[in-house]
Amino acid sequence: MDAAVRAARDPKGAGAARGSFLEMSLKTAKVSRIIKIVTSTNGGARGEVWKGFGEQSERTRTATQTMFDISGYTINAKLAEGACAEIYAGVNRATGTLVAVKRLHPRHSANKSEYKRLTEEGELGLRLGQQDNIVQTYGVGRDGDFPFVVLEYVDGRSLREILVERKKLSEIEVLNLAKGLARGLRFLHNAGVCHKDLKPDNIMITHDGVAKLLDFGFAENIRSFRLFRRSLEGSLPYMAPEMFTTKRATPATDIYALGCTLYECAAGFQPFGGMSDNEIVSKQTNVKLAPPPAREANPGISIYTEKMILTALQKETAKRFKSADEVLLDLARNPALRNSRETQTTGTQLVVK
Ligand SMILES: Nc1ncnc2c1ncn2[C@@H]1O[C@H](COP(=O)(O)OP(=O)(O)O)[C@@H](O)[C@H]1O
Ligand SMILES: [Mg+2]
Repeated sequence: MDAAVRAARDPKGAGAARGSFLEMSLKTAKVSRIIKIVTSTNGGARGEVWKGFGEQSERTRTATQTMFDISGYTINAKLAEGACAEIYAGVNRATGTLVAVKRLHPRHSANKSEYKRLTEEGELGLRLGQQDNIVQTYGVGRDGDFPFVVLEYVDGRSLREILVERKKLSEIEVLNLAKGLARGLRFLHNAGVCHKDLKPDNIMITHDGVAKLLDFGFAENIRSFRLFRRSLEGSLPYMAPEMFTTKRATPATDIYALGCTLYECAAGFQPFGGMSDNEIVSKQTNVKLAPPPAREANPGISIYTEKMILTALQKETAKRFKSADEVLLDLARNPALRNSRETQTTGTQLVVK
């Protein structure tokens, strides 16, 4: 089925695919002709090397060898390999700014639809502009047969990596994460964009603890007059039930994915996970099915927080938070967040500024 095909794009989470720097292969390095590069006025030219990245991680320190060059960027290390793209760390040679470059995977060089998707992903990101909880797009270009997107380099780890290591998060971490992601979603939705693929693999946490939403591969401008793509895109365990019938994303679709992600962080497992695509689809589309209380798996979660998460992942859109603003309003009333001093700490906490 189409859903399975799309979901298989990122089955284990791209974070899981991250290789060591030693694995980076010069064989894949390709210096080629650039036809087009468009750079935003507010990003890549800031010239802020290291500034704002907190402590340099081991990953950043090791990323000094030059692998190859593409149009004004020196590529130093491979950060991750997704199903359709490779993500590298690099430097803008003109400004010294550290960047991440997402380039179409060589196995998709002849795939016109993936070519178009990555280009559109970059163009949509460029139009968005800057917000702290969204990975900023600096530019979009083409390296021979390969389109690439230049992004703000995030020195941190994906939420998937953190969950693999820690299994679940504390209540205050879940709440701070919720706050950052809801702010990012509010920004996106106000710009008329739905992310459509919010999940732990597409969230990075900086070393300062700021949550950043990335990967606009499925994102859509819901205000545009262009026809909706109307295919089932996204990841099944985070996909709202209405997507299976309407195939049409709304802000509520992203709120549902936020609920699934927060539940997973709180409980240590997905609310509607399963061993097969069919099992997941039947759970997602069963309007009567609610997940077991996250508090059973994590007694540190308060009733208030449990209720917030359950409201985000309501099967019926009418019962769900209607907007990211409503989520933020609820969070502002959450006693655990209001009483917390941890929101002021830095380091590895999921602190959202
Ligand atoms: N801007 C960035 N800075 C640092 N790492 C990144 C950045 N963008 C992506 N990554 C890493 O690459 C992984 C895959 O990126 P993503 O955009 O989700 O690719 P895909 O479309 O293949 O899923 C992320 O989980 C993250 O680990
Ligand atoms: Mg991804």
